[in-house]
Amino acid sequence: MGSNGLTVGVVGAAGYSGGELCRLLLNHPGVGAILPASRGELPFEQAHPNLAGCGLEFLSPELLVESAGGLDFVFYSAPAGTAMREAPRFVEAGVRVIDLSPDFRFADPVVYERIYGEPHASPHLLGEAAYGVTELYRDDVREARIVANPGCYVITGVLGLAPLVAGGLADLDRTIHISALNGTTGAGSTPRREVMHPEVFGSVLPYSMEGHRHGPELEDRIGALAGRKVCVGLSTAHGAFARGICLQASVSVRGRGDGAITRETLLDLYRDFHGPGHEGNYFVLLNELPKNGKPNAKEYDVYPSVASVAGSNFCHLGVDYDAERGIAKTIAVTDNLVKGAAGSAIQNMNVMAGIDETAGLTHYGL
Ligand SMILES: NC(=O)c1ccc[n+]([C@@H]2O[C@H](COP(=O)([O-])OP(=O)(O)OC[C@H]3O[C@@H](n4cnc5c(N)ncnc54)[C@H](OP(=O)(O)O)[C@@H]3O)[C@@H](O)[C@H]2O)c1
Repeated sequence: MGSNGLTVGVVGAAGYSGGELCRLLLNHPGVGAILPASRGELPFEQAHPNLAGCGLEFLSPELLVESAGGLDFVFYSAPAGTAMREAPRFVEAGVRVIDLSPDFRFADPVVYERIYGEPHASPHLLGEAAYGVTELYRDDVREARIVANPGCYVITGVLGLAPLVAGGLADLDRTIHISALNGTTGAGSTPRREVMHPEVFGSVLPYSMEGHRHGPELEDRIGALAGRKVCVGLSTAHGAFARGICLQASVSVRGRGDGAITRETLLDLYRDFHGPGHEGNYFVLLNELPKNGKPNAKEYDVYPSVASVAGSNFCHLGVDYDAERGIAKTIAVTDNLVKGAAGSAIQNMNVMAGIDETAGLTHYGL
């Protein structure tokens, strides 16, 4: 780190996650210089008019590689297949890599090829990549040369399900059912008619129902927490909003129906795992508002709202329990571009750089 702070490069800086990285890095107290890379012709402030006045200018990805000697970190926010080909050049130059794409998320290159449809270009680096759910893998992240930032549905689901799974309450012989709505920025900035405003507004757009790519990643991560194979049925759709994920999970509970488990049991479990309020996992906040107990009372305020986390690095959680069926319900909300992408990546950078994990990220939602 130089005397003015960290120097960081961003590949894919013209895109949605890359733009969000720049927005957050511009306000980061430990960052002295940002080098955003794009292959396109558009000036930086035209690509990101929300950052007008920031003074950043794009350089080419080739020039960024040539500048590697002066970088502390490089973020990859490019499509799958880019970082696995290019990141080794940064690693060899001593630059630590944080990849927002799926390229380094699976230890086994065969699994990567099965899901992403091409052989892995740098299988020798997979073993050393840390998986970047900071809340669960801080120690691995701290030392890593490469961090694989998790998928946006995955970090939301893992933070929401970890207490149930690690606490031994989930009956993992049964499928975990997850239904999640993502904002349209989740589709990236390449234009597609189906996700244009006139098509999506006032509607919902289901996709990848045969098995979203994040399903196996969720199974991998929840399986690692449980120490066994698990089955996750993930259903995904875009909602008529730009940012945010609202994920709802249904998990069968061991010892169902014996009356021993209540919503309070689940709240205790979640509070123990993530810590109360900002203690423990600072960015994970549990909605603990009490219910009045009347059947079908539609107590909306006891569950988190996706609008509340927009623009922030927070994950808000809510829980409930269907006692008649023995099913625990978890609701987890994040901003897909922040906690689901750029914010988590910066949280990982903070841990790797040995600075406060929350630096540059403590602002609340819009
Ligand atoms: N959107 C989300 O909610 C989200 C959440 C978590 C993770 N991610 C992951 O983050 C990555 C970026 O997603 P995004 O939604 O931000 O996509 P995006 O808006 O489409 O931006 C991707 C950017 O990558 C650049 N790019 C494309 N091919 C490249 C290449 N071969 N080399 C260098 N740069 C290249 C493009 O910029 P230029 O053409 O200007 O170079 C483009 O602007 C993806 O891997 C995605 O899976 C996205």
